[in-house]
Formats: sequence, structure tokens, C-alpha cells
Amino acid sequence: MHSTVTDNPVITTKGLTKVYESRGRQVTALDGVDLHVREGEVFGVIGQSGAGKSSLIRCVNLLERPTSGTVTVDGTDLTALAGRGRRAGRDLRRARSRIGMVFQHFNLLSSRTVQDNVELPLEILGVSGAERARRALELLDLVGLADKAKAYPGQLSGGQKQRVGIARALAGEPRVLLSDEATSALDPETTRSILQLLRDLNRQLGLTVLLITHEMDVVKTVCDSAALMRSGRVVESGTVAELLATPGSELAGELFPVSGQATGPDRTVVDVTFHGEAATQPVISQLARTYNIDISILGAAMDSVGGKQIGRMRIELPGRYEENVVPVGFLREQGLQVAVVDPAATNTATTAAPTTVPTPGTASPSPLAKEAAK
Ligand SMILES: Nc1ncnc2c1ncn2[C@@H]1O[C@H](COP(=O)(O)OP(=O)(O)OP(=O)(O)O)[C@@H](O)[C@H]1O
Ligand SMILES: [Mg+2]
Repeated sequence: MHSTVTDNPVITTKGLTKVYESRGRQVTALDGVDLHVREGEVFGVIGQSGAGKSSLIRCVNLLERPTSGTVTVDGTDLTALAGRGRRAGRDLRRARSRIGMVFQHFNLLSSRTVQDNVELPLEILGVSGAERARRALELLDLVGLADKAKAYPGQLSGGQKQRVGIARALAGEPRVLLSDEATSALDPETTRSILQLLRDLNRQLGLTVLLITHEMDVVKTVCDSAALMRSGRVVESGTVAELLATPGSELAGELFPVSGQATGPDRTVVDVTFHGEAATQPVISQLARTYNIDISILGAAMDSVGGKQIGRMRIELPGRYEENVVPVGFLREQGLQVAVVDPAATNTATTAAPTTVPTPGTASPSPLAKEAAK
């Protein structure tokens, strides 16, 4: 079984704005966010602390009331339902039961067993006792915790607690799962297993996942698409392939960082981006054979995304750029994106920006890296 990403939008926000008022001060956490998450995809939102990621996810399920703009989930305009009398309140609750939410700190009730935690949303929906138990056990089995039904949260590891959190989020049979830093309280190995679980659920159940993270690795491991947020705005967004194909994309630079400097004078260094059809062709060996030149690979960041090789490679050709116009043209003809790296930059630094476009992700420490260093 595998999921298919369709073009149907499942989560759409238009002009989403959130202004918090605290002690007479106004904080604009979201500043006109347009987000499009397609059916069946895992969509990652990444950004520095304070960029507005949690505000975004809380506005998407109306835990937080947007100041302006609209949120549509699975065809229902939630913003239109919010705060329009009792009837609308009931409709909003029903619509929200189709949106599962997973939290960083699990938010389990310590006095209830694992099974009772998973049953909680079903109780609220008025599902009968026998049916609740049947569903809860089925969900615990799905997340690999069938044997922990009678345990209490205090008796579980962090990873197990998060599995309970995920089972609970699935109780209302959601079409959409929202996850706010679900793995940031977990160690790297547990993080991997939880990400794998989210990916499996995405594939098996066709569940659309919107996840928030500040870790590029999370995006790289599970996401089909990603958006970068800064100061309450989405500054980049697209599928991983689209981002890679965008010259100067900061996200692409972070996802597929390449470095390496020229091994001597009179060399041409180029960054080649592989995506789509071109990635399956042996272009580098064709280039070497066609022009009878020795090519050195200085660095590469490749990954298989959706069964296709995707990534970037920094290669070195003998001779100055003027002598390599034809081979570089050959690469472009193969449908590859090619950026010639400024030799001055490679002489002084281990990472260099292509001359064609300023790439903040490679020319200087990235904003995300800077944030981590603080
Ligand atoms: N309830 C609130 N009242 C006032 N200001 C808030 C509130 N919640 C968030 N903010 C502010 O809104 C901005 C965005 O916060 P938000 O929590 O959405 O960021 P974030 O990207 O999730 O950050 P982090 O990575 O640290 O979780 C910040 O400046 C924050 O201080
Ligand atoms: Mg947050």
C-alpha cells in the first residue's frame, strides 16, 4: 500500500493573520499566510523559534482564533463556523474531530490508562463503551502498543507516550493530522521510529500530515513538501523537487547542502541539481566520455525522494570557465540545473555561493544554523 498525493487541497489558508494582544502590546505572529497542503502529502513547516509555526497550526484547527483570513480543511471553511452561535459551535466541533493533533509534550492524562486516554475523544463524540474499546485497541495495535492498553502514561517511555498521543489523535478517524514538534522531546532513534510511524500512517491510511519542526532532518526524512516561515510569513513553499528546481532556494540549500573547494587554479567548479528525469540518467559519465575530460566530485547530497534520486552535486572540471562553456551547456541540455561556483569564494571558504544567484544557505551560515548557535 502506498499513498497518492493528489492535487486536491486538504488544508488551505488565505491571508491568515494572527495578532496577539498581551499587556497592551500587539504581537503579529502570522502575517498573511497562504498555505496549500494537498491530499495525501506530508507537509513540513520549518522556521526559527518565534517564526509563527505553532500559531499557524493552532489557527488551522481553530484552537486559536485567527485575527483575519480563512482556514479551509477538507472542504469546510472553519473560520466561517467559528463563533456563529450554538449550531455553528456544534458543526465546528464535528469538523475539528476530523483533524487529529499531536503535541510535543504528549498531553496525556496521567490518571487514565493508555486505553482510556485513546478513548477520550470517542467519549466526547458520544461513541458507546463497547465500540470505544474496540476502536481504542485497534488503534493501539496500529501504533504498536497493543500490550500497553492497561498501563498508565507514567509507566511508558517518551516514544511510547507519543505513540499513545498519535493513537488518540487518530480516534476521530481524521483526514488530517497536525503535529507540533512531536519528536523534539525524543532522542534521535525514537525520533526516527515516530517519523516512520507518521510516514506509515500517511501511506496506509492516506492521511494528510501537516507537521511543524525546527529540524531540517525531519523534513528530509518524511516530507513531500515544505514551507519556510520567517516573521509570521511563508517565504518559500513547494514540493522538495520544486524547491530544488528554484534557483537560490534557501530550503533546498539546507536540505541538500554541498561544499568543497577547487583542488587548484584553472579549475571550474559547478553545482549540479538533479531532480526528475535527469536524475536517472548517467549524465556525469556521459559528460566525461563525450568531452574526454576528468571530472572530480567535490561534494554531493543525494537522497531518494518518492523513488527518484534527487539532490545536488558539486563537480570540478579541468580548465577555466571559458574553456568549459560547452560541457556546462551539455549539462543544461540534459535538463539539469547548473550553477557555476565563483572561484574566489572557493579559495577562501569551504562553502561557496554560485555566482549566478546569491544563496544565503551556502554563502553564509544559514539562518537556521545561526538560530541553533544562539
Ligand atoms: N498566547 C500568546 N500571547 C502573546 N504572544 C504570543 C502568544 N503565542 C505566541 N506569541 C508570540 O507570537 C510569535 C510566534 O510564536 P509561535 O509560538 O507561533 O512561534 P513558533 O514558530 O512556534 O516558535 P517555537 O519554535 O519556539 O515553538 C512569538 O513572537 C510569540 O512570542
Ligand atoms: Mg512552536
